[in-house]
Amino acid sequence: MHARHAVFACALLALPACSTAPRRTAPAPASAPARDDSLYRALGAQAGIEKVVDAALGEIHNDPHINLFFANTDMPDLRRLLIEQFCAATGGPCEYTGRSMEEAHGGLNLTDDDFDRFVGDLVRAFDKAAVPKDQQQRLLALFGPMRPQIVGQ
Ligand code: HEM
Repeated sequence: MHARHAVFACALLALPACSTAPRRTAPAPASAPARDDSLYRALGAQAGIEKVVDAALGEIHNDPHINLFFANTDMPDLRRLLIEQFCAATGGPCEYTGRSMEEAHGGLNLTDDDFDRFVGDLVRAFDKAAVPKDQQQRLLALFGPMRPQIVGQ
């Protein structure tokens, strides 16, 4: 192509090969891997997470063995923190601003039975919120390992 025509084609078509700007093809540094937000998106992003947390709080409220623990808890605050925690844990664009699990459950002396029962409430809530089982398993895999930080504190 004649040089004058090449300049013209670049201006007209904005061809990438004509660009003088540096091309952004370098991979992200290994220290900052792309966040995997697939579970967050599969759950329906923010609205989906809120629905799941509300279903969980509903089950907890209706469980006489579990709701006693929350007698003195600021429930709107707990709801906000759970939404943050679920969002952050599933790769969503949130930051969890609550206490550590050890601190939050300190003095409650929770047992493994309490924890199992709580997980049962969560699973019932996930079913009611129509969360598919594979997504439920991914959620439980995120929260299950927190057991030692929660039981016996
Ligand atoms: C994986 C399981 C669990 C997760 C992810 C979880 C998460 C949380 C979070 C995010 C908070 C708020 C933290 C804050 O106030 O800064 C919290 C508080 C609390 N959790 Fe859990 N929790 C779990 C298990 C349990 C269990 C099994 C019980 C009781 C049966 C329980 C009872 C409570 C209570 C009573 C509070 C409020 C404490 C207060 O009012 O100061 N949690 N939990």
